[in-house]
Amino acid sequence: MIVEYLALFVVIFLIVRPILNKIFRTNKLPPSPIGLPIIGHFHLLGPIIHRSFKQFTDRYGPIISLRLGSIPCIVISSPELARDFLKTNEQYFCEHNASIAVNRLTYASSVAFAPYGPYFKFIKKLTINELLGTRPVNSFAALRTKERNRFLQLLREKSQRGETVNLTDELPKLSNNIVSQMILGTSNDGDYADEARIVIKEVTKDYFTAGTDTTAITTEWALAELINNPKVLGKARQEIDRVVGKTRLVGESDSPNLPYIQAIIKETLRLHPPLPLLERKCVKQCQIGEYIIPENAMLFVNNWAMARDPKTWESPMDFRPERFLVESNEGGELKMGPIDVKGNNFQLLPFGAGRRMCPGVNLATQMLPALLANIIQCFDLTVPDSQGGDPRAVNDLGVLNMEEAPGFTGPRLHELICLPVPRLGSPLISTIEA
Ligand code: HEM
Repeated sequence: MIVEYLALFVVIFLIVRPILNKIFRTNKLPPSPIGLPIIGHFHLLGPIIHRSFKQFTDRYGPIISLRLGSIPCIVISSPELARDFLKTNEQYFCEHNASIAVNRLTYASSVAFAPYGPYFKFIKKLTINELLGTRPVNSFAALRTKERNRFLQLLREKSQRGETVNLTDELPKLSNNIVSQMILGTSNDGDYADEARIVIKEVTKDYFTAGTDTTAITTEWALAELINNPKVLGKARQEIDRVVGKTRLVGESDSPNLPYIQAIIKETLRLHPPLPLLERKCVKQCQIGEYIIPENAMLFVNNWAMARDPKTWESPMDFRPERFLVESNEGGELKMGPIDVKGNNFQLLPFGAGRRMCPGVNLATQMLPALLANIIQCFDLTVPDSQGGDPRAVNDLGVLNMEEAPGFTGPRLHELICLPVPRLGSPLISTIEA
């Protein structure tokens, strides 16, 4: 009998405790939906995690707390809170969780999860000096041009044969080729002894796998948005034709003169961040505003939800690159506005912010505009009715379905399969050489 009473007491305690906590806020955690004993809020999560988090945020406000099993989690979804956590209190959130999302994108690379200490700082410095800083990124420009041309040749061959191309398959191969050749091409300048060079290559190989999926996902979303928004595509081509002309291919050095193309990339990263949730770990208990954030709590910054907040963005669901442009003084032409993606503007954090922000941001922002510009400069991408045999991928009007795949990351649900058709009057295509 005593055992039964005890069991009943434990069950009542487990059920009542979260309710009392909620009423009296004894633990000073941010507001939270009512959870269940043991599993916490797991049962409330749908297949697309950032969507579920947004639903809670819509109900409980821009900062909420959840419990996933025994792990306390804080989810924030406003630029002000992102600044509080990632800048003002950065020292408490300077590590990544070994989570599914980062794991998937980094293929469990040890660096992304390394504690913020001497090992991490050493590797980061090495990588910036050798591969991802402005100087090394610029020095590999010719390699990227060669790989982009190879990709354009593939589209040309497909178009000549009247065959479709599966961009979801081909784009990661392109970024993989670029990134892996950059690694193999490093440090051949005699600065290092052979053993040191081998170490650099081994470590950076690990570090680098993070870059391939993210850039491919971004290009794929950008192309899908352009297919669905022909007016935006038209303006992008006008800019390319005006600035670069029709007799040569866009190169990376043209990017500063192509603000509309750059704005398309920003708009894509806003609406479709490849990592919709930034994830950090609280390394030490701290107080932020009125709340106590416990040690080891997971922090999620919901980039995806911030992009959809009308308080931050006008008509947030519209794909409108113009939001990143301002009129220049000379003659009303549009130039790049002040919002960048480098962790300074907390409403737009596709690469994160602060000490653990993405070190590949230079490379990605160098690669993406030229690749997108090259594709749309040379080809019209028409969408066949059957996208890999899935009738839901495109509707009767040829509009692509823009749903995301389930999980923590943000790829498209449906593959992007297109028939490339050379743009009329573009003699460029016959001149492409790898
Ligand atoms: C569109 C392209 C990319 C996007 C959107 C992206 C996004 C991100 C984000 C959101 C993070 C976590 C940042 C944070 O916690 O504040 C991250 C980390 C990381 N990214 Fe990227 N990334 C991209 C491309 C690349 C490239 C090209 C590379 C390298 C070749 C790279 C290497 C890494 C690494 C190593 C980390 C872990 C950094 C650390 O732990 O300190 N990423 N990335």
